[in-house]
Amino acid sequence: MSWTREKRYRSYSSWSNNEIKNLKIQAENSPYKPGYHISPLSGLLNDPNGFSYFNGKWHVFYQSFPFGPVHGLKSWVHCISDDLVHWSNLGNELVPSTKYDSHGVYSGSALAIKNNLLLAYTGNVRDKSWQRTSFQNGALMNQQGQITKIEQPLIRQPQHVTEHFRDPQLLRDSENYYILLGAQDKKTLKGEFSWFKSIDLKNWEDMGYLKHPFKDLGYMVECPNLVFVDGHPVLIFCPQGLPQKELKYKNIYPNVYSVGTSFDFSSGTFNGEPDSLSNLDDGFDVYASQAFTAPNGTTYLISWIGLPEIKYPTDQENWAHCLSLVKKLHFEDGHLLQTPLSAQKKLSIKKSELITAPSIAGIQEVNENADQQYELELSIDADQEGNLLLASSKDHKQGIQMSFNTAQNGNLTVDRSKAGIQFASKYGTKRSIKLPHQQSLNLNIFIDHSVCEIFVNKGENVLTLRYFAPQKNTKIAFISNNGIKYSGRYTKLTDM
Ligand code: FRU
Repeated sequence: MSWTREKRYRSYSSWSNNEIKNLKIQAENSPYKPGYHISPLSGLLNDPNGFSYFNGKWHVFYQSFPFGPVHGLKSWVHCISDDLVHWSNLGNELVPSTKYDSHGVYSGSALAIKNNLLLAYTGNVRDKSWQRTSFQNGALMNQQGQITKIEQPLIRQPQHVTEHFRDPQLLRDSENYYILLGAQDKKTLKGEFSWFKSIDLKNWEDMGYLKHPFKDLGYMVECPNLVFVDGHPVLIFCPQGLPQKELKYKNIYPNVYSVGTSFDFSSGTFNGEPDSLSNLDDGFDVYASQAFTAPNGTTYLISWIGLPEIKYPTDQENWAHCLSLVKKLHFEDGHLLQTPLSAQKKLSIKKSELITAPSIAGIQEVNENADQQYELELSIDADQEGNLLLASSKDHKQGIQMSFNTAQNGNLTVDRSKAGIQFASKYGTKRSIKLPHQQSLNLNIFIDHSVCEIFVNKGENVLTLRYFAPQKNTKIAFISNNGIKYSGRYTKLTDM
């Protein structure tokens, strides 16, 4: 099927119930459909939006093109939860309908204000000659869950930026409200953060670009988020075209973070070090992550597991991508950690099994008959070297291969080159991280049909990947020359 512009921008009402039903059936019947990750009811899912806590519930929306595995006329789909683990999908709730969002309801955020949840999103608008203008729009969700768009845009595109001006994050301090945006400067065509201030949420003053220590952020900044984690300002964003000399990364576009020393709201200044950029995820498929600090004081993060401009195998089945698990952000010994929620255990059906096994040279089975949905916790002793195979075939020739060394100059490499259908191979099939010297290695691995999230040492690093292997390949095994000393726990997880 060819996805012409006309087809990508057909109105929502022009798609028949039957067409939508067929798309839903295709997504539902896919062997790769995750069971406990948020995935699209139909078509394509991308960025998480409006991640928030309001009226006693957790909310997250996702960017959606419900009619196929491509980027087209976007809307927000709403999901709610009582525990950040079980999510109910309420369907499309913010769709293009006005002259300020005619070509897509793009990404944005949410802020609870008294009895309403204020949603801020980018309205993508094209004219007849396909020239784009970006508007930053608002909508109010009341306690009954009804969403009403605010008629006039909150912010219009200023003179000094190009049409690449999007993804508003709503913030507040004790006096004012603020909006942080991704932008491209018209003169330099470089990525910038725009900073706006308001006292009444109606009039927004352009404060210019955010001042920051970074030298070169490429040609566009997408999805910026500023959060305060245990008192530290943390800036999370996606700098497209970031030069490799600023930060080494392998994915088509990076999702990065920087921990600053302080943040000044009134001048819009993020103080920190120029070389403080790090990859948020060390795996293959994380982008457009969104974070917010809940009323309980904890900062949570959720990511799109998917990347722009990359073809994924489920495109064949007319659906694509999913969201990550919710991760908790916190600091330990000066490091930003991303840890899975302990509430995730609520999905276990039967008691988790302790794994104790003698260390055997060669093939050492961990679970010969694992499921497609589980959490695997492993603690591998120091001074061990070998491979951990996940989603392995019976003969151990296929699978996700994790090679590790917990001796001096420790490291961990995840290789998906033998894990089923190959995609994005142009960007490499391996991702590596360094491990602390001669220390035991702690892993929390979540497997969900085609999703693998690996939390290393309680979240010092996370490596996230999609893989598309035959569903019968479920073995877990170590392969090593001398045997591996470890202990572990296997927990089967249900659908959410
Ligand atoms: C990031 C992004 C955002 C934009 C949205 C459109 O993936 O390009 O910048 O708002 O997707 O779906």
